[in-house]
Amino acid sequence: MSETKDTTLTAEREKRRGLMAFLHGNRVFRSLFRHGLPDTNRNRALATFSNFFLHVQPVKVRLRAIKFTQTFYLGGLSLVCFSVLTITGILLMFYYHPSVPRAYEDMKDLQFVVSSGTFLRNLHRWSAHVMVALVFLHMVRVFFAGAYKPPREFNWVLGVILFVLTVLLSYTGYLLPWDQLAYWAVTVGANMAKAVPVMGEDIRFLMLGGTEVGENALIRFYVLHCVVLPLVLTVVIALHLWRVRKDGGLHLPPLKGGEGNQ
Ligand code: HEM
Repeated sequence: MSETKDTTLTAEREKRRGLMAFLHGNRVFRSLFRHGLPDTNRNRALATFSNFFLHVQPVKVRLRAIKFTQTFYLGGLSLVCFSVLTITGILLMFYYHPSVPRAYEDMKDLQFVVSSGTFLRNLHRWSAHVMVALVFLHMVRVFFAGAYKPPREFNWVLGVILFVLTVLLSYTGYLLPWDQLAYWAVTVGANMAKAVPVMGEDIRFLMLGGTEVGENALIRFYVLHCVVLPLVLTVVIALHLWRVRKDGGLHLPPLKGGEGNQ
């Protein structure tokens, strides 16, 4: 009885292997993927190195590195927020005109006319608030884990740039609704810039494209918020993640008693 079962199992396995060999050995598959099934260490390495999307990931990950309490997933969650912001931001751009007579009206239309407009706007707004908090907490986590020390100093510097970019994105987005809150927040920010010694006036002029918060300031903030800053942030995030991998994965504290580094 058990012999018959074994023979059936072996035949089943052979059949599956034959099917896999056919699927992975044919010319179409081979023209797309240059390696076999990722069932050996060599094939796993080839699968990761030759795939553009997997390339950022290491071939092997230590179990401790993916434990929730190791990172609280703060870096990854910041990335999720940035993706949500990019998608909702593009959708908002379909409705919004960066001009003084239209900007506020467009926000009201989004709220009362566009279907799911309030949801879209709130999703963008809340993700922005959450992202600032997450990036800050991620920075705090990295600091207390001592992960800024060599060989990760360069990634810490990239991180500081990311933090500044995140705050700038948040600030430039503030003006776009063109309501009282936006107008006065940017007035306060521009006046703070004016307090910089020697070049304060020039910085304020550069920020606003003039001497007061008006049409020129709105278009400057719009271009920075929707094009320049997101593009720079995307490039720096790519560099940041590449560095995490090049620095040998996440920083892990040594285990007590010299146990295996799993
Ligand atoms: C847009 C903002 C950011 C994104 C999307 C991001 C993303 C990530 C991700 C996914 C990781 C790996 C997993 C983790 O540690 O949670 C990481 C690690 C790291 N991040 Fe960030 N990060 C951002 C901002 C920052 C900031 C503001 C700093 C510090 C100033 C920073 C410094 C680091 C360092 C040093 C590591 C390596 C940590 C280790 O080896 O344990 N990052 N980041």
